[in-house]
Amino acid sequence: MAIQKLGVIGAGLMGNGIAHVAAVSGLDVTLVDVNAAALEKALATIGKNLDRQVSRSLISADDKLAALARISTATEQAPLAECDMVIEAATEKEAVKIAIFKALCPLLKPDAILASNTSSIPITRLAAATDRPGRFIGMHFFNPVPMMKLVEIIRGLATEDATYAAVKALAERLGKAPVLAQDYPGFVVNRILCPMLNEAIFALMEGVGDVRAIDEGMKLGANHPMGPLELCDFVGLDTLYEVMKVLYDGLGDPKYRPCPLLAKYVEAGWLGRKSGKGFYDYSTTPPTPTR
Ligand code: CAA
Ligand code: NAD
Repeated sequence: MAIQKLGVIGAGLMGNGIAHVAAVSGLDVTLVDVNAAALEKALATIGKNLDRQVSRSLISADDKLAALARISTATEQAPLAECDMVIEAATEKEAVKIAIFKALCPLLKPDAILASNTSSIPITRLAAATDRPGRFIGMHFFNPVPMMKLVEIIRGLATEDATYAAVKALAERLGKAPVLAQDYPGFVVNRILCPMLNEAIFALMEGVGDVRAIDEGMKLGANHPMGPLELCDFVGLDTLYEVMKVLYDGLGDPKYRPCPLLAKYVEAGWLGRKSGKGFYDYSTTPPTPTR
């Protein structure tokens, strides 16, 4: 099926990026969030990131204006009834996602595809909460969406071939490199990456090194573009915590237990860049390590 009208639910770190790349690629995008302030922030972020692409001659100024004109926003789901496909990019909590699907499915066209950008939650389980397991799929973008080529595509047990083909074609239309991951907790990349990030927090908690030593060590010693603790702040400590809980519950191995220091930061509201403070305090330039 041709996908021209795309809905995105959740206008946070990821939803704004998904809306951005879809609009630049010519799709009509409806961006929905329960929080009106999140929608305003998302449109500002999209404008800033489009300017980055204009300044690097990746797109023209007219392309930017045309992309912005293709994005509409709403705080309720009703406008999604027109969509050919909806990508859910709301908070990484299974109950939140299922509640979204229960409200959304009765509104959707019978042949509309429903995808989740979940970092870790098994697609088969999410699909079972919808009226369309055959047209439900994981479409997992990476952060920051305008910069990262990878999209992990995850089929649930019931996902139909036509659904997979349509979503793979959409990923390619958006200029992404789709990789098929099997439906196990964390899929491919987060099964490997998030335990490493969690281990960096264990190293910090146990005093193996301070924030600067751990991040500089991995940037200079492993050529990572960001240190692991900087990346934790970039991803969001709340999201990382939820992913580690999904891995621990789903795989049953204590090596996936969330680090107690991660839990403490989340409980303190220190979520990283999104809250202004995590392993770094972002009120200073450059950001100051908080441990
Ligand atoms: N959003 C959009 N574009 C961005 C950006 C952002 N947050 N940060 C940087 N860019 C773009 C800009 O175009 C920038 O150029 P200008 O500043 O001149 O406009 C260009 O990238 C280069 O940026 P920088 O020079 O500031 O820094 P950089 O070269 O190191 O690139 C980066 C920034 C691409 C984010 C790089 O640091 C990087 O790749 N970091 C690792 C990101 C990563 O690992 N992501 C995966 C996280 S895990 C995940 O996503 C899955 C999950 O489910 C949790
Ligand atoms: P975020 O906290 O930045 O944004 C989540 C947004 O969802 C918020 O704006 C919130 O208001 C909104 N929301 C919550 N409940 C809602 C509802 N019922 N209806 C509509 N909107 C609702 O989170 P994020 O980092 O953008 O993550 C979103 C999803 O993408 C999660 O599943 C996450 O695991 C996944 N993901 C995150 C990253 C990352 O690096 N942060 C990378 C890939 C995938």
